[in-house]
Amino acid sequence: MRGRTAVLADPLLDRMLFSPDQILDRVEEVGAAITRDYDGRDLVLLTVLRGGIFFLADLARHIDLPLTMDFMAVSSYAGGGAAVRITKDLDDAIEGRHVLVVEDIIDTGLTLNYLLNVLRQRRPASLEVCTLLDKDARRIADLQVAYRGFRIPDRFVVGYGLDLGGRFRGMPFIATLRDEVMG
Ligand code: IMP
Repeated sequence: MRGRTAVLADPLLDRMLFSPDQILDRVEEVGAAITRDYDGRDLVLLTVLRGGIFFLADLARHIDLPLTMDFMAVSSYAGGGAAVRITKDLDDAIEGRHVLVVEDIIDTGLTLNYLLNVLRQRRPASLEVCTLLDKDARRIADLQVAYRGFRIPDRFVVGYGLDLGGRFRGMPFIATLRDEVMG
């Protein structure tokens, strides 16, 4: 964490929840489990921009299988609701492929649930979810999570890809925000 004292001292941050070493140790374990489970299959790691790319980059280096990566971007419709708009679609077809959706965090699960329904219609050979963080106490959508890094309490977290209005994504650790920040 050399050179990172400035971000740690940010008045918006409460405390560090997971250090870089804790994150990478867990990513290594999850990568090993995926390597075992997908042995002999052609794996597509599908990530939702932008937060997921940090986890994806570390995870891909700990999966000892031939794999490809593809990206989607979504935005919620103004006015709320469960529907999301795909602002960037995948570059390649996923029909007949084994697709693992790599997420940074699942909260209510509504965004991911919508995305999974879209992807299912494209007839992948299999479709599973891997998330680094899971706020499962807040789950509304009924979805199966095959791989999970950490369960976390209902707190807003930033770092390692997760942002607050675009800030904090580049921090190598995950931190909670002070309660006052989120109101
Ligand atoms: P969901 O649809 O409620 O599961 O969450 C959708 C998105 O909200 C996630 O993919 C994140 O981009 C964002 N999100 C939820 N909780 C947090 C958090 O604690 N920190 C940063 N982003 C979050």
